[in-house]
Formats: sequence, structure tokens, C-alpha cells
Amino acid sequence: MPAHPDHAELHYGDKVLKLPVTVGTEAEAGIDISSLRKETGAITLDPGYVNTGSCESAITYIDGEKGILRYRGIPIEELCERSTFLEVCYLLLYGELPTKDELDDFTNDIRTHTMLHEDVKRFFSVFPKKAHPMAVCAAVIGALSTFYPKSMDPRDHKQRDISTARIIAKLPTIAAYSFKHSIGQPFMYPQNKFDYSSNFLHLMFATPTEDYEVDPVIAKALDKLLILHADHEQNCSTSTVRMVGSSGANMFASLSAGVMALWGPLHGGANSAVVEMLQRIHESGDGGRAYMQAVKDRKEGIRLMGFGHRVYKSYDPRASILKTTTYEVLEKLKKSNPLLDVAVELEEIALKDSYFVERNLYPNVDFYSGLIYQAIGIPVNMFTVMFALGRLPGWIAQWREMQNDPATRISRPRQIYTGSAKRAYVPLEKRSPRRE
Ligand code: ACO
Repeated sequence: MPAHPDHAELHYGDKVLKLPVTVGTEAEAGIDISSLRKETGAITLDPGYVNTGSCESAITYIDGEKGILRYRGIPIEELCERSTFLEVCYLLLYGELPTKDELDDFTNDIRTHTMLHEDVKRFFSVFPKKAHPMAVCAAVIGALSTFYPKSMDPRDHKQRDISTARIIAKLPTIAAYSFKHSIGQPFMYPQNKFDYSSNFLHLMFATPTEDYEVDPVIAKALDKLLILHADHEQNCSTSTVRMVGSSGANMFASLSAGVMALWGPLHGGANSAVVEMLQRIHESGDGGRAYMQAVKDRKEGIRLMGFGHRVYKSYDPRASILKTTTYEVLEKLKKSNPLLDVAVELEEIALKDSYFVERNLYPNVDFYSGLIYQAIGIPVNMFTVMFALGRLPGWIAQWREMQNDPATRISRPRQIYTGSAKRAYVPLEKRSPRRE
């Protein structure tokens, strides 16, 4: 492990500042600049927060160079192999794997909250059928604040636990209802005899008229997908959840904002964009050559979706697990998907191409996940909702950690103002047209 100095020196004008260095468990170092503005009058400028740590956190560790991801110290590969999504939820929220009794209690707690208030169900009918399910989910999550006013104090531990159980239990129901509404099918009630992922499949695909049997292969694959998405430290949506929560906003309000942040195509929205891209390439029949050229020519708005990551500068460990899982699931379900061949071919081209090699661009979690969702029968516009379902415990764990952290202050970045200097108000009749 590299040894870090205990402080850094910053020379600013005639001042020399001694800035303490905070070193994490895995020897990552952060220069603490909290005294900077007070001492110098200047701030740091770091667009996209590429060099900025917003907090200390004990939840998730990523080594982007080595392709390592661990929840509470446990490698993601082991959790995917041996754990369940609800166990991982517990681990993220409470810091340790649960004992059998703790897991039973936690699971029962979640089970008691799976139904939605009948009045909440009525919301879905007022959204247009073509409404994007991410917008519907964010709206309904935010609206839960109107139903549970007595359990929304962020500082109260008991209220936090109840809200945690409620939202983990209800999000599968909310997500499935956003889909059922879009296709005009009746809403199914949750079935508490099922495990978490099987219940979600039942909510999505059962109808009152037919028997629906949950396929254990699909339920297992879904559980693995949820585990893989469960947390990823201070990404865009998680930072949003923390930022909103830092104002004292309740958990549902903070999570609703997180869903909206996740929706963007550069973040969680990339999983549906990948499948749409693969489909277009498949239809073009040229093995992706024209698309790859457009990416390298930096045509506006064209990127190799599902590639690149702010933190990973090597293969995203989630992507390698997902690639193997895609093959396994398709084989077990005796299905094939020509888009998988397109994806593998694109990956092979990219990993040898200097454009991608020089920029350290590798497949990320979104590159293969959509192909498994497709195999499971999830429609493309629900892919990002699936991501939200998985990321939920991470958002909550991070939000709770922030509430408990004595260093937390309202998140309020500063700026360097570059607009007009002071000038006089011009009356309407004296204004000239603006030149473009
Ligand atoms: N295709 C083509 N070029 C890319 C890609 C890509 N997918 N990703 C990055 N680049 C290029 C950029 O053009 C830039 O090149 P330059 O230095 O010559 O200007 C360089 O690589 C660095 O890219 P940035 O956008 O500066 O990297 P940043 O860390 O800001 O962005 C991001 C990361 C948003 C994930 C980016 O890689 C991207 O847009 N990927 C495609 C969308 C995607 O898959 N998003 C999901 C990310 S995982 C998640 O959020 C769950």
C-alpha cells in the first residue's frame, strides 16, 4: 500500500496552508480542504466532482484500476454466488451479514409492507399509458410522503427503520404497477409466500385469469442482477439522494430524486440505450462497423453505450459477472439472442481499438444487463426501473449513513461567477433586440 504524507501544503499568495490528509481503510487519500475558503478566500473548482470526495463512507469500496467492488468489505463475486438480495440489503443497511434470526425478522418486516395503500394504487390510472415508468415510479415514491407523515423524521431511528422496510417492500409493487398500467392489465396483489425476486416476477407477469409459475432460474438471475446493482458508492443518483437528504428532506423525497437522477442515459438509463443501440446495429447487418466509426469520429450524441466509467479504468467486475450470467441464463432457458453476438463482437472490436484502449474504456454494468432483462421478459423501458430496484438499498444505506454522520452539513457547492458585472436596469422601451 502506498504511504501517504499526513498533510499537504498549499501555497496561495503569501500564505502557506497545511491541509490534513485523511487516509481510508484501503489507503485512498483525501486532502481535507475544509479550511481553504476561510484561510484564503478561494474555493476549489472541480467540474463533475472528478477529484472531489463528498464524504467518508464505510459502505462500498471500489478500486477502479483493479476492477474491485466490495460491499462492507465482501467481494461482489462472493455475494453474487452465495447471498440473496434481501441479505445484501441487510448487509448494506446494518453493516454486517445477518444471523438467521436477524434475516428472518428483516424478511418478515419487509413482507408485512408489500401492499400499497388502495389510494396509492389509484395514482397509476391518472398517468398516460405511455408515461415512462421511471417518471411514474419517482412520482409514486415521492407521494408516499403524503401517506406516512408519522414516520418521516430523518433523525428518528425507529421512523427510519419503518420507512426503510416500507420502501424496500413496496418498490417492486410500484415498479410492476407502472408496467401493468402501461399495458392495461389489472394489478396483482403481492404474494408474501414468495421471496423478493419471485414476488416481483409474479407482480409483473401474473394475471388473475391464468396460473403463473415463477421460473426459479429467472428468479435466481433476477436476484443476482439486483445484488450487482445494490450500491456503487457516490455515483450520480446516490449523491443526489445524499444531497437532497442533507437538507433534512424525508427518505421518500430523497429517493424520488435519486430515481430521477438515475433515469439519465449517462447513468442508469444507459441499460435501455445499450439494447436499442445493439438492435440498430443488428438491423444494419454490418457488425457495428459504421456505428463504431461514428463513435470514434465523435459524432454528436453518439457514444458506445455501456462502455466507459468515471471510476473503472479497467473491466467493471459487474460486467464480467453479467456477461457469464447472460450465457448461463440463455442456456438454461434454452433461448438465444442475436444481440448477445453483436455485443460480444462490439466488445472484441473495442478492446483492441486504440480509441477505447487509450481512454481506458471497458464494458460497464449496463453493457450486458439489458440482455438478461430481455431474456427474463422485462420490456426495454423498464430496464432502468430494474436498476432502481437494485440500487434502492444502497441509496437508503448511504442516506442513513449521512444522517448518522456528525460531519454532515447541508450540501451546498459554491461557484465562480462568470456573468455580467454590475449594470443598470434598462426600461422596456429602451431595450434593443438580442443578437444571437
Ligand atoms: N463511447 C465513446 N467515447 C467515450 C465513451 C463511450 N461510451 N465514454 C467516454 N468516452 C470518451 C470521451 O469522449 C472522452 O474522450 P476525450 O478525452 O478524447 O474527450 C473520454 O472518453 C473520457 O470521457 P468522459 O465523458 O470525460 O468521462 P466521464 O468519467 O465524465 O464519463 C461516462 C463517464 C458518463 C460513464 C461515459 O463513459 C459515458 O458516457 N459512457 C456511456 C454511457 C454509459 O454507459 N453510462 C453508464 C455508466 S455506468 C452507470 O452509471 C451505472
